[in-house]
Amino acid sequence: MTRTRKRLGVNIDHVATLRQARRGQVPEPAAAASIAELYGADGITVHLREDRRHIQDRDLEVLKRVVTTRINLEMAATEEITRIACGLIPYSCTLVPEKREEITTEGGLDVLGHRDAMVQTTARLKNAGIVVSMFIDPDLPQVRASRQAGADAIEIHTGTFCEAVGTGKHEAELAKIRAAAAFGASIGLKVFAGHGLDVRNIVPILDIPEIEEFNIGHSIIARAVFLGLPAAVKEIADLIHGA
Ligand code: PXP
Repeated sequence: MTRTRKRLGVNIDHVATLRQARRGQVPEPAAAASIAELYGADGITVHLREDRRHIQDRDLEVLKRVVTTRINLEMAATEEITRIACGLIPYSCTLVPEKREEITTEGGLDVLGHRDAMVQTTARLKNAGIVVSMFIDPDLPQVRASRQAGADAIEIHTGTFCEAVGTGKHEAELAKIRAAAAFGASIGLKVFAGHGLDVRNIVPILDIPEIEEFNIGHSIIARAVFLGLPAAVKEIADLIHGA
């Protein structure tokens, strides 16, 4: 199997989190996007949450003008956000579950349980020319349901695997990710992965040939506090591009 070059999408939500702590002007997420691109990002990911806790509508407009790679918009399949996405036309949209009280996205999307809403939202986004990805747990029925809903891609939720590292349960979680990736690719889906990944726990995931893209945010921004954003992006971009 010929390997495609793997890509890094840098999630810059937490640059906006820091700005929103003071409801001020800095740090500017678009500046982070440009630096991330300079140091190896193949795309920029942002989540426009319904509660606007970090990324704001204005950030999307600025990013659309300055990002030279690809914008991946993470979004809940609501009327308001779908309308915004169809106006913005990012390269891709990743449909995620969203609860107001959660700290971050908890668990994958239940595509099986929300089939009609997923089919409708996917069709609207695809009609606008946007690539559609479903953020799902490594669960084969959810992979199949994503394909049936018309998605182009799945992003496998790696959070449970990341939390299992060091507990003895991570091999079982890794096996689920491998199986979901292989099944997804076999039924024509592009396969991405994300959530909780960092420079250490990503290593076994890099060996899964079907996974083309990784969306990583918190660990990059956390390490950037000490190393600077260029070094934090470059270290993980080099790992991914070398895989
Ligand atoms: N992918 C998806 C779909 C997400 O919701 C998130 C978190 O916003 C990420 C990737 C990035 O996760 P993390 O910030 O843990 O790297």
